[in-house]
Amino acid sequence: MRILAIETSCDETAVSLLECSGGFSNPIFSVLGTGLFSQAHLHEKYGGVFPALAKREHQKNLVPLLKVALKDTALLEAKPPRLGGLASKDLDSILEQEPELKRQLVEYFSENSNIPNIDAVAVTQGPGLEPALWVGLNFAKTLSFVWQKPLIPVNHMEGHVFSVLTNGKEISNDKSQISNKESVTIEFPALALLVSGGHTELQLVRDWLSYERLGETRDDAIGEAFDKVARLLGLPYPGGPEISKLASIARAENSNTYTITLPRPMIKSNDYDFSYAGLKTAVLYAIKEHGDMDDTYKKEMARAFEDAAIDVVCAKSEKALAEYLPKTFITGGGVIGNTYLRERLTTLIQTKFPETKILFPTRELSTDNAVMIGMAGYLRYEKTPHTYGVYNQSQTLAASGTLRL
Ligand code: KG4
Ligand code: ZN
Repeated sequence: MRILAIETSCDETAVSLLECSGGFSNPIFSVLGTGLFSQAHLHEKYGGVFPALAKREHQKNLVPLLKVALKDTALLEAKPPRLGGLASKDLDSILEQEPELKRQLVEYFSENSNIPNIDAVAVTQGPGLEPALWVGLNFAKTLSFVWQKPLIPVNHMEGHVFSVLTNGKEISNDKSQISNKESVTIEFPALALLVSGGHTELQLVRDWLSYERLGETRDDAIGEAFDKVARLLGLPYPGGPEISKLASIARAENSNTYTITLPRPMIKSNDYDFSYAGLKTAVLYAIKEHGDMDDTYKKEMARAFEDAAIDVVCAKSEKALAEYLPKTFITGGGVIGNTYLRERLTTLIQTKFPETKILFPTRELSTDNAVMIGMAGYLRYEKTPHTYGVYNQSQTLAASGTLRL
């Protein structure tokens, strides 16, 4: 099955073309083309993602990224053009809120009248920033309608769960074809730790596509805390990688000029919930009390914060591993790109749960991307193909900022 996948839930615009086979018993994925544009640098001055700007950028970048993903023209079916008569008014109702995207799509269809050789269009429906989600969803609806291909709405968090399925293969634009010739096996029950800019949660996965939320953050997500603390330290957005760099320097140098003690909120609570707002506030107070920060203070604070944030993730993961004894420990989300967190989780599994297999996504697939949306879309389609049809305008399909797994 060839799936064109689209992701616009936050500040990454991404379009990928995947070839998928093997079903649940032997899932194999090849990425035939992929394009990703990160808006992070544009949001830097706001210290976080600014929704109206994200919406505008998604509109601007989707068609160029579609061209990148479909660059291999051999994928175009040798059918006679059938879209010549498509008028701009046909797209009016779907793309009412996205005039710039509509303009580009009308131009694209007039230049590219062949239909690509794909079987379905998968798109992130939620959770995420609603104005951003709508752009991708309406783009996908248009492609489904014009090309007459089934539309598969995907939960972004399920994408993060299945981001581990490429078997550690890196995927980048300059390689035309990358495949995982061997499938990655997930044995059930599995435990999934999802840590990103919007989520911090532990899910028990008893079988394919079946989730039971064990716990989640009660306030800020862990990635959000990394971003906010980075801002307090005068580091650019997104703050996760910046904090991580400074913290690893402090660890390598064993730098201990200042005494910084931070709390580990909820580390001992008898549940699987998290709380990161208090940790961020503790950093704020410590900085205020300290006064002017030199570089040494900044790196020691980065390490103290990273230690505290990661201690809690590891403690809650350990508690869930001990209680549910999963066969597979799946990890996903932007924060799982953090080297120190990977090391800590790997050590935890090796020393205390050697029977459990831990899976990490590649670093490229840790942060938001369309490849994971295509993989999740494929598995959803495998389970219930009849539930996905070609989009028609009488159908209501809304973006959902708060969609749950
Ligand atoms: O999954 P993602 O790309 O977007 C969401 O769905 O939220 O995650 C982005 C988050 C940001 O908060 C970013 O600071 C964080 O992941 N992040 C990191 C690292 N790389 C990205 N946090 C800690 N360490 C990292 N190396
Ligand atoms: Zn994400």
